[in-house]
Amino acid sequence: MILVTGGAGFIGANFVLDWLAQSQEPAVNLDKLTYAGNAENLASLAGDARHVFVHGDIGDTALVERLLAEHRPRAVVNFAAESHVDRSIHGPEDFIQTNVVGTLRLLEAVRHHWNALPAGEKAAFRFLHVSTDEVYGTLSSTAPAFTEQNKYEPNSPYSASKAASDHLVRAWHHTYGLPVLTTNCSNNYGPYHFPEKLIPLMIVNALAGKPLPVYGDGQQVRDWLYVKDHTSAIRRVLEAGTPGETYNVGGWNEKPNIEIVQTVCALLDELRPRADGRSYTTQITYVKDRPGHDRRYAIDARKIERELGWKPAETFDTGIRKTVQWYLAHPEWVARVQSGSYRDWVAKQYAAA
Ligand code: NAD
Ligand code: DAU
Repeated sequence: MILVTGGAGFIGANFVLDWLAQSQEPAVNLDKLTYAGNAENLASLAGDARHVFVHGDIGDTALVERLLAEHRPRAVVNFAAESHVDRSIHGPEDFIQTNVVGTLRLLEAVRHHWNALPAGEKAAFRFLHVSTDEVYGTLSSTAPAFTEQNKYEPNSPYSASKAASDHLVRAWHHTYGLPVLTTNCSNNYGPYHFPEKLIPLMIVNALAGKPLPVYGDGQQVRDWLYVKDHTSAIRRVLEAGTPGETYNVGGWNEKPNIEIVQTVCALLDELRPRADGRSYTTQITYVKDRPGHDRRYAIDARKIERELGWKPAETFDTGIRKTVQWYLAHPEWVARVQSGSYRDWVAKQYAAA
């Protein structure tokens, strides 16, 4: 059995669903159910004894110790985090609390548990930390993509907190020998993506007839990966990664934001045309830029391909079509996640747009 943290969020929920679709091995899922966590993402697992959901905080040492002792997982996969850059700019405190202090407490609880395991279980145990390409900072338009050798240059409170957590994970391996693995992935998209992030925000705003807010000049570049390719990469690293190593994960899909928004509009024009026959692109609105906005991210994912044989299965064209179709097919999910706190966030973030 494995222990997953943050498994009610976007990537964590996709990971748990894919895990249980591909293996019989149970998963204990520890999630605090912040605004970003949604138990409904896991509704299809209701009654499935292989999934044990626990509502709680990775920083609650007594709880984590109890779960480790009770379930004796062979691995921990740590997704739990505050994940939205714009929220980290408005309020960094929660990011330090969960991403840094929470990771520290989780590592300590896991270390004590691991230390007491019999030799065979101890050798097979893994702690996989799910991190981001944002720890590497920003790239010029001509710079080579980030490799695992790039130095850490985080620029936002979010990426600084993730960089700190990565350093803790590294140190727990170097100092205590904990068998850790770290993945640094590029921008994900797909089902269950919370509509505060670019792609789902554009889909839900477009369908609601609202403006599509593009920050600055819209020429910032991100490298997009369909979420199910991320979950397959994590499974592969867990299976065959070398403890102490880090693996970059990316989709070889660098695109400027404005092109992403135009692609979403074109798909909606085809699949759910506006009543007035005009294109959704007429809703695009340029708004003030994100402070400290990183210009470009790009991932060199050759190490994970070379050493572990992992490659993404989706192209951007296939993945974005599936994503738009998923949102069109799940209006009830969209309606439910757009709660009071979601509306408060949108009002605050886009007030002066
Ligand atoms: P998300 O915000 O959608 O989900 C985070 C989940 O963690 C939520 O279910 C939330 O309730 C839970 N959580 C938050 N604080 C917690 C705590 N203290 N204890 C237990 N659970 C807690 O995030 P996501 O987009 O699914 O990202 C998951 C992980 O992947 C994060 O670590 C993020 O940094 C990393 N990542 C994300 C992306 C991306 O594009 N979204 C890319 C690379 C890496
Ligand atoms: O690179 C991996 C990271 O990708 C993850 O670590 C983060 O958890 C995840 O949130 C994501 O961060 P970004 O800041 O790149 O994602 P976001 O969807 O917030 O923004 C993508 C780009 O779109 C970015 O350049 C900002 C821009 N943007 C975003 C929003 C929400 C807009 O232009 N308008 C918007 O309204």
